[in-house]
Amino acid sequence: MTQRVIEITSPAFADIHSLGRDYDLNQLFPVRQPLALEIGCGIGDFIVQRAAEQPQVNFIAIDIFNKGCYKTCRRVDRSGLSNVRVMRVEARQLLSYCGRADMLSAVYINCPDPWPKKRHRNRRLLNRTFLTQLLYYLQPEGELFFVTDFADYAYQVAQLFPAVAGYENMLPAPFFTEMDDYPLSKYMRKFRDQGLPLYFQHQRRRADFTLRESELPPTDKGFRTRHLLE
Ligand SMILES: C[S@@+](CC[C@H](N)C(=O)[O-])C[C@H]1O[C@@H](n2cnc3c(N)ncnc32)[C@H](O)[C@@H]1O
Repeated sequence: MTQRVIEITSPAFADIHSLGRDYDLNQLFPVRQPLALEIGCGIGDFIVQRAAEQPQVNFIAIDIFNKGCYKTCRRVDRSGLSNVRVMRVEARQLLSYCGRADMLSAVYINCPDPWPKKRHRNRRLLNRTFLTQLLYYLQPEGELFFVTDFADYAYQVAQLFPAVAGYENMLPAPFFTEMDDYPLSKYMRKFRDQGLPLYFQHQRRRADFTLRESELPPTDKGFRTRHLLE
């Protein structure tokens, strides 16, 4: 069944197709300031909380689903926030299309699709390639937050961080099941309400680590990356 595409007319929505390759995403905002990215924003409840707490940061919230982008835009419009822009785009596509070295002060990935079946695990967004690519787009000491309800995903990513040179763990353990002052998203609340644990990881790009453009690993061919923007 194909879903009806809802037209999004919100001023918070930025159509990736109307932006040229290498477009400077900070130009989408009234004020130039540090730029953070939320990947898979869902209905936008996390981003409006974080953006309200951090008016000194511009936030791009992306999701591949039109309905999620629509709902996120409605939340942003109701909140009156001017530091959030919403885009319907796949994460690796956005970064390969408009990404620049050192452009992000933070990346948030909350409850990404866990792909629980063993044969689907190679569909998970967080893998060695993507974590390495993020090091190029994160500024020195730029932060990466990853939250999952899925223990197997948490362990897998926790093992990857030390294996991908360039990250520094901001927590005294690979992950915590609590993170003070971290806004809860719809999925995080849902799992909490069911009494299930959440696994928080907080890393940052080491200040002394650099990845040159020529060292960027090519995006994995496969799930959701077949139709990269031209
Ligand atoms: C399980 S939901 C979690 C939504 C929200 N972060 C939350 O915690 O409530 C995962 C979301 O990520 C989006 N998504 C999955 N893969 C993505 C990708 N590669 N790039 C952008 N969005 C993605 C999905 O469309 C979905 O809305």
